[in-house]
Amino acid sequence: MLKTVIRQLPTVAVVAAFSALTLSSALAADGKALYTDKGCNACHGEDAKTPLQEGFPKLAGLPGDYVLNQLKDIKSGARANGQTVDTMKPIVADLSDDEIGALANYIGSLREAPTAAATGPASPGKTLFLTKTCVACHGKEGKKPLPGYPAIAGQDKTYILAQMKDIKTGARTNGKANAMQPVMHLVNDDEMTSVAEYLSTVK
Ligand code: HEC
Ligand code: HEC
Repeated sequence: MLKTVIRQLPTVAVVAAFSALTLSSALAADGKALYTDKGCNACHGEDAKTPLQEGFPKLAGLPGDYVLNQLKDIKSGARANGQTVDTMKPIVADLSDDEIGALANYIGSLREAPTAAATGPASPGKTLFLTKTCVACHGKEGKKPLPGYPAIAGQDKTYILAQMKDIKTGARTNGKANAMQPVMHLVNDDEMTSVAEYLSTVK
């Protein structure tokens, strides 16, 4: 009995994922239009992964629920670290909740299923990533985060470093950042640079 249930589980999950997908694709379509209409492409790139300049984040790859929280937090001012205030806030100020939802849905839809880890070569940054608890929350190679947490693989190096520092110092406290803050004493500036270097190269 139990065995049958377990065997059926994946099918149920796939069906559920499929209906969620069809439901969200309508929203994602609106989000795609909004992404251009609202000028997000100007800074984050047409494909959401070629940012205008160093220090700007790639968005493709981030889970939709994480994006939703960040957009709300940037709009409300709960996230005010780094370049957020000057660059992003004026743009999200006029967005409605529905528009924010559609944008988050669209960006989330760009996330590819993590591949069965083509693990990169050993590096000091990789060792740090594996040993300083990062994997527990961001997943193997930074690709499979816990629900609501960000994927960080392949992110812009300067952006990764800036966010790590801001979470460490408490300049960024929005969302679930307080989950990460307590482990940040485990890495010093040089180590953070090393980890950022490694993560930015993960495909
Ligand atoms: C003028 C440039 C600019 C525009 C236009 C812009 N952004 Fe941003 N965005 C940024 C910068 C810079 C950051 C990083 C802020 C920081 O340093 O903390 C950011 C951060 C973000 C984040 C958080 C990413 C993360 O990994 O936490 C999301 C999500 C986002 N932007 C989505 C959007 C969307 C959606 C739009 C369009 C409605 C948009 N942005 C328009 C510059 C821009
Ligand atoms: C206990 C869980 C946890 C651990 C351990 C952890 N993080 Fe995080 N990290 C988070 C959460 C949650 C966020 C997003 C906070 C939010 O909701 O805004 C985050 C955000 C980040 C960001 C910013 C991502 C973005 O798109 O803005 C980077 C970079 C990052 N973490 C790197 C690391 C590294 C490197 C380590 C190891 C030294 C680490 N984290 C350890 C939970 C964790």
